[in-house]
Amino acid sequence: MSDQIIPLPATAEAAAPVPGTNPNTRKVFIKTYGCQMNVYDSVRMGDALASEGYVTTEAMEEADLVLLNTCHIREKAAEKVYSALGRLREMKKERAANGREMMIGVAGCVAQAEGEEILRRAPAVDVVIGPQTYHRLPEALKRARQGERVIETDYAVEDKFEHLPKTEKAVIRSRGVTSFLTVQEGCDKFCTFCVVPYTRGSEVSRPLSQILDEAKRLVEAGVREITLLGQNVNAWHGEGPKGEAWGLGDLLYRLSEIPGLARLRYTTSHPRDMDDRLIEAHRHLRTLMPYLHLPVQAGSDRVLKAMNRRHTAQEYIRLIERIRAARPDIALSGDFIVGFPGETEAEFEDTLRLVETVRYAQAFSFKYSTRPGTPGAELGSQVAEEVKAERLERLQALLLKQQHEFAEGCVGKVIDILLEKPGRNAGQLIGRSPWLQSVNVDAKSSQIGDIISVRIIGTGPNSLFAERIER
Ligand code: SAH
Ligand code: SF4
Ligand code: F3S
Repeated sequence: MSDQIIPLPATAEAAAPVPGTNPNTRKVFIKTYGCQMNVYDSVRMGDALASEGYVTTEAMEEADLVLLNTCHIREKAAEKVYSALGRLREMKKERAANGREMMIGVAGCVAQAEGEEILRRAPAVDVVIGPQTYHRLPEALKRARQGERVIETDYAVEDKFEHLPKTEKAVIRSRGVTSFLTVQEGCDKFCTFCVVPYTRGSEVSRPLSQILDEAKRLVEAGVREITLLGQNVNAWHGEGPKGEAWGLGDLLYRLSEIPGLARLRYTTSHPRDMDDRLIEAHRHLRTLMPYLHLPVQAGSDRVLKAMNRRHTAQEYIRLIERIRAARPDIALSGDFIVGFPGETEAEFEDTLRLVETVRYAQAFSFKYSTRPGTPGAELGSQVAEEVKAERLERLQALLLKQQHEFAEGCVGKVIDILLEKPGRNAGQLIGRSPWLQSVNVDAKSSQIGDIISVRIIGTGPNSLFAERIER
């Protein structure tokens, strides 16, 4: 693209609003860091900007607005933002030399946690906007265009979802057959290592009617699988149609009545909030996929206590047994932290033992990262970096072995997959297994959105291979 300023058309009305071709159209590039909730928020921010005439672009060089949707969970994640901002500052300078404007916005959890510091450390930033205030983004940009450096990180009294535009059905359709839907945000659990209660605020559940409306819209636009999101999604609570108290289990029962909605998932859960109704939903609902991300973090009771997880290793294992009794084919996924302050070799080995007992199909593991402002940062006896690295390596080797075993165990099985997107080779599609694996199979692109039966015939590094069968 040339960097010349394109003259305005003679009449503004004459300009056809075809995305990307109208010189009046502003383009936004959104870079998403962090968790699925940020992915969802980026989509909603894109939609809010679309109603202001912005189109999203995949090419940062052609963007009039670059928006970083940031993550604060570990130090590395937060530092990435500042190095990206350094590069953007250069880009903005070059643009200015060519007479072209470029705005920079920082959204998400770093914005919430370090708003003022971002403005201080990164003078090129025009707008800082938190995860609970991004419905105000269009207005914030207007103010920034008038020369203000805007910071919007106060928790809004109004509900952002009530103020965000509804996504056009055509736009939903263009995004594919699976979708995220945020039902709960924030966290009141205050695990001693974690920034989420500070960046996302206290726990809030979206009301049932709002969730149902959004789910129906998604399904009407062709979505077949919805993943409910929340930092503590199983703490969701609301009111049923008669004003009765509902939990996530009830919500799943209700959502599975939506005609055309074939599959439901939810993430991320806390072990303390896995109630009986939710486990029952796993037993009875065929729409609820047999996959559960249930982080435990550590296997030592002393460490769990110091983390403020408020359960023991044994309680977690018992819970897993109950869930497996309800849904024997359920695949489990987890998160782990190694090297929490004071963690001894023996305590770390308790984590390995727990992993051996549970057997995970998938897992995420991290070195403990000290986060300013959290109680963990105040603890003495921080574990040395080399010790953390060595423990992480051992844990990951075990988790990877289990992941391979799980994938190998799928070979020969006949399963249903949801055809999702084009595959690597022509004539192939990628489908999603009930256990969230990518499955390569011969199929036509007109079949995207169909659920078909396949036999798994092999495994690749990150996916499975299957052949179609008639059932
Ligand atoms: N609400 C979820 C977790 C959300 S954060 C839960 O309670 O399980 C996602 C994961 O990041 C956590 O499960 C944890 O494993 C990891 N994490 C959070 N804070 C961290 C820190 N300070 N250092 C290393 N990993 C961390
Ligand atoms: Fe963080 Fe704990 Fe809340 Fe999960 S439950 S978001 S780990 S404070
Ligand atoms: Fe990161 Fe915020 Fe998600 S800190 S993990 S983007 S809730």
